[in-house]
Amino acid sequence: MRGNKMISSMSMANASLLMAISAIIWAAFNSDVASNIRPPPQETRSITTDSHSSTTPQQVHISTVGRDHMRISWITKKPAPSKVEYGMSSGEYDSSAIGSCTSYRYFLYKSGHIHEVVIGPLNPNTVYYYRCSGHSSREFNFKTTPPQLPLKFIVIGDLGQTKWTESTLQHISQVEYDMLLLPGDLSYADFWQPYWDSFGRLVEPLASQRPWMVTIGNHEVEKIPIIHPTPFTSYNARWHMPFEESESPSNLYYSFDVASEVHVIMLGSYTDFDQGSSQYTWLEGDLKKVNRKKTSWVVVVLHAPWYNSNMAHVGEYESVDMRKAMEQLLYDARVDIVFAGHTRVYDGKANKCGPMHITIGDGGNREGLARKFMDPKPEISIYREASFGHGQLQVVNSTHAQWTWHRNEDNLPKADDSVWLTSLISDLDCKPQ
Ligand SMILES: *[C@@H]1O[C@H](CO)[C@@H](O)[C@H](O)[C@H]1NC(C)=O
Ligand SMILES: [Fe+2]
Repeated sequence: MRGNKMISSMSMANASLLMAISAIIWAAFNSDVASNIRPPPQETRSITTDSHSSTTPQQVHISTVGRDHMRISWITKKPAPSKVEYGMSSGEYDSSAIGSCTSYRYFLYKSGHIHEVVIGPLNPNTVYYYRCSGHSSREFNFKTTPPQLPLKFIVIGDLGQTKWTESTLQHISQVEYDMLLLPGDLSYADFWQPYWDSFGRLVEPLASQRPWMVTIGNHEVEKIPIIHPTPFTSYNARWHMPFEESESPSNLYYSFDVASEVHVIMLGSYTDFDQGSSQYTWLEGDLKKVNRKKTSWVVVVLHAPWYNSNMAHVGEYESVDMRKAMEQLLYDARVDIVFAGHTRVYDGKANKCGPMHITIGDGGNREGLARKFMDPKPEISIYREASFGHGQLQVVNSTHAQWTWHRNEDNLPKADDSVWLTSLISDLDCKPQ
């Protein structure tokens, strides 16, 4: 527990009590880590220390809101204005906006002040410089997404905060990309809330520059019977995604358009998904609204893979039952790609006119890699390898996209798996129903 000032205001006795109880809870709720067949992690955690003053913005990250707005989120330890100033040249902020502030309690932990401000309208494909809470020593910048294709997404799952995470982030920082998609399992804080703060600091250099669009994994639930029965407390407070704009009733699932030709749907594997549930009803309505004459690509992102050729996490409720409930909706709407996390590795198609399923759960989590694959290899799985890394989806035009897997190897990002995908609407046999 290296120098985290977030807990320094607590008495030492309280802090060690909290630590002991958290450790017990952690062990009880993570017994699957010990019992599953994943090998131990290769490297230890990489916990960022908090060297910021009490009103300095930290853990800055951004997410896209509607067609031309951006939500800026950050945390200060002490109260500070929820204000963002921004402009198109460094140090010159000709616009500003005011937002809101929240905080949460989790057992004995009290979060810092979590600020969010929505800014815009913004021009597409443009770099904006900004500062938060009027703090002049930290200027950030981001680039908005381009107005049309081509477009590059980074896809990275099960990120965590290990040396592998650092290596993955380092590789991503060298890539020219437009938006990052994260199919769940962000911080691996697992009830120990200061790890959410260190995760926020770890990803800030990247997450303050490009929209990071995330959804929930099992590690985001953080529900403890009696002590903390509300799920997703930290996730919802820290990672507000644009669900209101897509008429979703919940931060746990939402959708948005990118470059007018790509519709991205983020689903929640750990909330209700059965027919008749609010997520199911929302998804049905959201898919109906997509105009496939204009929108050539529909991409779904979720955590628990519906198809899986790896022995880790096989047959889990969230995978099997969610697939049973929702697969037909996705098939009928001719969804092109389903990205999942949770475990590597599965890339494949169950049906000619169905989505390509790509599983990408290995940004660097401390559970180690899922190395044991089904033997014999199922027909459906076209590529299998356990390695840490990230994926890139380059959507070239309305008919073609290229998926590339970049393995972390010898500290060099190595592209070692590349596949061309064609959009289903360009296939005459696969007209939307
Ligand atoms: C789309 O991109 C692919 C791959 O680069 C290319 O072969 C194809 O001709 C392009 N289609 C159009 C309509 O530009
Ligand atoms: Fe997971």
